[in-house]
Amino acid sequence: MRKPIIAGNWKLNKTITEATNLATQLVEGLGSISDREVIIAPTYTALRRVFDVIEDSPIQLSAQNCYPQTSGAFTGELSPEFLQDAGCQCIIIGHSERRQLMGETDLFINQKVYKTLQAGLKPILCIGETLHERENKQMFDVLSKQIKEGLADLTAEQMATLIIAYEPVWAIGTGKTASSDQAEEAHAFIRRLLKEMFNNEVAGQTRILYGGSVKPDNIDELMAQKDIDGALVGGASLNAEDFIRIVKFKKQIS
Ligand code: PGA
Repeated sequence: MRKPIIAGNWKLNKTITEATNLATQLVEGLGSISDREVIIAPTYTALRRVFDVIEDSPIQLSAQNCYPQTSGAFTGELSPEFLQDAGCQCIIIGHSERRQLMGETDLFINQKVYKTLQAGLKPILCIGETLHERENKQMFDVLSKQIKEGLADLTAEQMATLIIAYEPVWAIGTGKTASSDQAEEAHAFIRRLLKEMFNNEVAGQTRILYGGSVKPDNIDELMAQKDIDGALVGGASLNAEDFIRIVKFKKQIS
């Protein structure tokens, strides 16, 4: 049984005051929810204050990025250890915006994944194809490269806490969600790949989240798919009511 995860990626939104207000609303609205995991990823500057708000709640804190060194002469960067010091349990790694805007490579992403695990935090590794790649029938090759290189040299033991987020780039922030069949096809492919690279156990236990225009009105259908274990939510995570509804997706008992 894979426990579902709903994660909110706040990106470059919400000042410290706005972030603590939103976190307060989530703590109140979600109560002691325990049959699913909830993660929020505020900006760096809001992390500690948000941590103070959610500390005694089931909500976990995530950073949106990290640098793969512990400390030293790395101006402007933050390591998994420093993010842990601020209260983080998870780190989003390799988001498509970072791949596209900051030129992050699979090799660099792999170093971050490795360092995050070494520090005892949970990486949320993001992968996904562009529209061009999908239309050119390169989707499976792209996903396969991102997974193989992003997870290079990890052991089956290290995979125990790692989370994967499949986010088709064409669905991020566009209002165009992948259909639940399209998402399931990609998730099932990723799970088969994990089985090939590691073993049955890793493939069976790894949570694979879907991301890309997840909203209150499409979450239930997405979550009904066999290989979709949760969602990474951008825009809709900025509104307490929408995010709470997404967290409280209706489970279809099959
Ligand atoms: P979106 O973003 O929900 O606004 O499409 C998802 C993400 O980038 O993680």
